[in-house]
Amino acid sequence: MMSKARITAIGSYVPDNVVTNFDLEKMVDTNDEWIIRRTGIKERRFASENEFTSDLSIKAIENLMERYDKGIHDVDMIVVCTLSPEYQTPSTASYIQGRLGLKQAGAIDINAACAGFTYGLHLANGLITAGLHKKILVIGAETLSKITDFTDRTTCILFGDGAGAMLVEYDQNGSFLSSHVVSEGEKAHNLYGTYLSDKMFGHELEHKRQLVQNGREVYKWAVTSVPSGMKAVVDKAEFSLQDVDWFIPHSANLRMIESICEKSSYPIEKTLTSLEYHGNTSAASIPLAVDLGIKEGKIKEGDYLLLYGFGGGLSRSGQLIKWG
Ligand code: COA
Repeated sequence: MMSKARITAIGSYVPDNVVTNFDLEKMVDTNDEWIIRRTGIKERRFASENEFTSDLSIKAIENLMERYDKGIHDVDMIVVCTLSPEYQTPSTASYIQGRLGLKQAGAIDINAACAGFTYGLHLANGLITAGLHKKILVIGAETLSKITDFTDRTTCILFGDGAGAMLVEYDQNGSFLSSHVVSEGEKAHNLYGTYLSDKMFGHELEHKRQLVQNGREVYKWAVTSVPSGMKAVVDKAEFSLQDVDWFIPHSANLRMIESICEKSSYPIEKTLTSLEYHGNTSAASIPLAVDLGIKEGKIKEGDYLLLYGFGGGLSRSGQLIKWG
């Protein structure tokens, strides 16, 4: 089915508080050189004590409205992609809908972790192309610092907070050339945050609220499964990776992204990330990277972008998009 959904605006926001690798050295036994060598991350932002995922999301929406001549009064669906909502219920999307007074908008949260934003775009494209909605706000927002275990040096060096928002509208000339979603739930115990249950597929889980990760397993999974996923997305559109102007993967770890590019024979120079100064911001990382690419003058109207999210679930999802 031809896409009838076009991305017409983008906005982003990161909290003011900068946390460098040197700051982390004071919290756990780590060092700037190790973090940069293993991950490519130099610093990240942490939300303040009273700043939550809905606050970051609203700032990203305000940024979108300031930069584009777009009203949101007629938005008819809000999709928030997050694994760090401030409430288990209501959904962050409902809370934002209420705070912004968007009376005609439905609201739904998607928890597909670091694949969240691309899952959100998949849903928005489907809902609009099917004729069910006309104007959808898709937001990727996280306050991961609130669910990070700062005694675990293998995970706490990775994560940061931030938010990105895109407006997706009905248009005969849709942006989406192809889209796919994958879930590999049988591998879920490699990256989880637990509230109620301490067992998963026979694995005993650490019963705590923070994120727990088997970094090596997630790394191995990503570098093997993402290249095949990228190919599946471009194949579906009858494109090739050579036609892609910018590859925008989830900003998990630069070493991992280098390995994914090498396996896909895709030039790392044509890859955009947000991780150097924002760390791994899960569902926010892809819109943050797209927005950085726009601000740096790299992404131009008509460029073909390959977005690919991957992470907890384990889940992954990607789209080939014509920008502008
Ligand atoms: N600072 C300094 N040393 C550290 C450290 C830190 N923050 N974390 C671990 N180390 C040490 C370990 O103790 C170990 O030391 P040893 O060899 O003396 O035992 C060594 O570094 C290697 O540890 P290991 O856990 O095997 O590291 P790694 O090479 O797997 O790198 C990650 C760890 C987390 C960077 C890596 O596994 C990774 O990036 N995984 C993917 C994570 C990710 O992106 N997740 C999100 C996906 S959405």
